[in-house]
Amino acid sequence: MLAGGEGQGVQKAMQLLTALGEVFGAERLVPITSAQIAGVSYGNIGDAGMELLEDWARSGARVRVATTLNPAGMDPERWREMGVGKDYHDKQLRIIKAFTRMGVRATCTCTPYLVGNLPKRGEHIAWSESSAIGYANSVLGAMTNREGGPSALAAALAGRTPLYGLHIKEKRRATVVVGVDGEAGLRTAFDFSVLGYAVGRAVGSGIPFFEGIGRADQDRLKIMSAALAASGGIAMFHIRGVTPEARGQRLAGLEKVIIGRREMEEARLRLTADGSPDLACIGCPHCSIGELADIARLVMGRRVADGKGLWVWTSRGVYARAKRRGYVSAIEAAGGRVFTDTCMVVCPLEESGYTHMITNSCKAAHYVPSTTKLKATVAELHEAVGSVMEGGGSGCV
Ligand code: F3S
Repeated sequence: MLAGGEGQGVQKAMQLLTALGEVFGAERLVPITSAQIAGVSYGNIGDAGMELLEDWARSGARVRVATTLNPAGMDPERWREMGVGKDYHDKQLRIIKAFTRMGVRATCTCTPYLVGNLPKRGEHIAWSESSAIGYANSVLGAMTNREGGPSALAAALAGRTPLYGLHIKEKRRATVVVGVDGEAGLRTAFDFSVLGYAVGRAVGSGIPFFEGIGRADQDRLKIMSAALAASGGIAMFHIRGVTPEARGQRLAGLEKVIIGRREMEEARLRLTADGSPDLACIGCPHCSIGELADIARLVMGRRVADGKGLWVWTSRGVYARAKRRGYVSAIEAAGGRVFTDTCMVVCPLEESGYTHMITNSCKAAHYVPSTTKLKATVAELHEAVGSVMEGGGSGCV
């Protein structure tokens, strides 16, 4: 492959992978079973990225493993409602076409594990969406480094990745203990997002081992994975009694960090802008079916206020299920919108005309002010949704 016997596209992939392997001291490559590629939005990769992908696709290279895509820069059906221009739309479609020519499934979601790209424990994979990387390593027990878009694509085309970092069992051990104080009051998915954000800030990088969490469902773990990677560089964590590799971790001698109510409040305040939000964005990471059900219940019998918006983000696969169950029509009957294939961070959100986003996701509130001109505030799901409804208030789930 490196010598070019399988074509230029595969050769380019191998050149990239061997260069990476040399930088990180990998002794060999390891076969992978799955890839997930970020860097899909035209707004992020621009003309240069689009042309590079088109070149790669023209070479005839095809992926060798199940490969899915991260969110793109627009909803392919409702892009006009998002304020996306025709030129942006056309170029975004060219990017997706280049990927599909290489055999990539255009799932356009950061929750590939909810739509069929679900690696098993111990499998080597190459994923590049930071929230999904944390989820895959920690919750699924699959093994991936923090790939970039190009290195994940290269791994998919070569069917292998350099063996270093989180592909090696010993490198997956906890490096710091995080004690979650009972006063932190963990109940909702929002609490887990704030916890992740606080821990990312306190720890930076490494592999935290959480004590004191008790129980955590899929939605809580996915939103926490996103926040840990946003405020820190955390690609893996363990939770006693919850995650598959927590058992048998050696904790003696590790530094211990305590997170309590004060640290949680500090994290929340960092993500709270002045002023009144006019757009609630829910779905970072992309909503699960349960989250869409919660939003549908929250808006039942209510209306989004004039001049305000409720935008919900999910994958096409979950959208189809939610539509069958009536959640999409409930949200849209209330004046909200459910978009697929994109998100508040990678679409041109400033084109929406709104100026201040409110969300239950610390990752979204961390990035939106730097990727768009909007201000951002975090809040519980029911508060975020309630703040844009007629008469305000929060409702309950
Ligand atoms: Fe997903 Fe976009 Fe958030 S890619 S994790 S919804 S920033």
